[in-house]
Amino acid sequence: MMSKTIIVTGGAGFIGSNFIFYILKKYADYRIICLDKLTYAGNLSTLKPVMDNPNFRFVKADICDREAVYQLFEEEHPDIIVNFAAESHVDRSIEDPGIFLQTNIMGTATLMDACRAFGIERYHQVSTDEVYGDLPLDRPDLFFTEETPIHTSSPYSSSKAAADLLVLAYYRTYGLPVSISRCSNNYGPYHFPEKLIPLMIANALNDKPLPVYGEGLNVRDWLYVEDHCSAIDLIIHKGRVGEVYNVGGHNEMKNIDIVKIICKALDKPESLITYVTDRKGHDMRYAIDPEKIHNELGWLPETKFEDGIKKTIDWYLNNREWWEEIISGDYQNYYEEMY
Ligand code: NAD
Ligand code: DAU
Repeated sequence: MMSKTIIVTGGAGFIGSNFIFYILKKYADYRIICLDKLTYAGNLSTLKPVMDNPNFRFVKADICDREAVYQLFEEEHPDIIVNFAAESHVDRSIEDPGIFLQTNIMGTATLMDACRAFGIERYHQVSTDEVYGDLPLDRPDLFFTEETPIHTSSPYSSSKAAADLLVLAYYRTYGLPVSISRCSNNYGPYHFPEKLIPLMIANALNDKPLPVYGEGLNVRDWLYVEDHCSAIDLIIHKGRVGEVYNVGGHNEMKNIDIVKIICKALDKPESLITYVTDRKGHDMRYAIDPEKIHNELGWLPETKFEDGIKKTIDWYLNNREWWEEIISGDYQNYYEEMY
């Protein structure tokens, strides 16, 4: 396989960092440049294990900053762009949508403009199953396919859907070689502790209340983060240009059941569970049909939920410093200390 240069945007966040580790381990001759703004969700200490790798470079920049993005393309002549950079938290988008529109839509356009200006082999957009809206709880026979209409609920999912439409427009109008993956909920190491699973682990370990929205009956389709990375790896190398691929592992679970599993694993009482006001516009059920990526690219998830959640809980137990620094806000000083 020929050596390639990949720009990974948002690589100081949860999935992007896992993807960088995955690619550097698998392809010894690939060069990875991480472009990240280091928002509240980006944590440079996450990338410590690869900072000294000669095949890795970190660049602090905003994907909306046209000058910085173009300069990086000029310096590095990337073959592939994988765009993870986004504002990713639904609750924050409900509080303040503006930055979601800016980063998720305008940032995507800026990256693709650079791709057009400099030429690339592939632009890959990391999207989400949330663009399909939700499914009813009483229709377990229904799943999201790539043909399911876009039908968004939150400012976050609307901004991701707008970006997807823009990506497909750049393919049709300019012939930009694009692909899109729409994945279900990820979990695993380096997941920011504002999201359900890491928040519940951190709160339980601190004997703090476990805030479950509504009745906790909403269903999410959980996938171990490494399985998402392997799907993107296949799509950027073998997936068809102009195509959307759904990614999910047929692992639907109710929120309340996840929280109870975490209590049990940490030997904490379920009395910590506190039912709180529901999220506005809360999607009921997500469920991906992954037939297309399975049939076309042979992708299958490797990690069963019982193994993945155990690995995840062990990781949070063994890396308390990582999430405690986030909760205390100390991690935000890390960048200043590094440079
Ligand atoms: P995250 O919030 O953990 O990380 C986002 C990263 O993007 C951070 O490092 C942040 O600093 C960076 N970033 C934000 N704005 C930026 C900007 N303007 N310029 C440069 N960098 C910027 O997010 P995540 O959970 O790792 O999600 C990554 C991507 O995957 C997102 O596009 C998200 O929509 C998508 N996705 C996430 C999930 C999930 O379950 N977490 C599932 C499907 C798809
Ligand atoms: O489906 C993919 C999406 O998954 C990604 O596109 C998003 O970036 C990612 O954040 C995630 O969105 P969710 O809204 O599904 O994830 P979150 O962890 O915020 O919430 C999961 C479920 O748990 C949801 O039904 C809301 C509920 N919840 C969440 C939190 C933070 C609670 O009950 N209590 C909480 O404190």
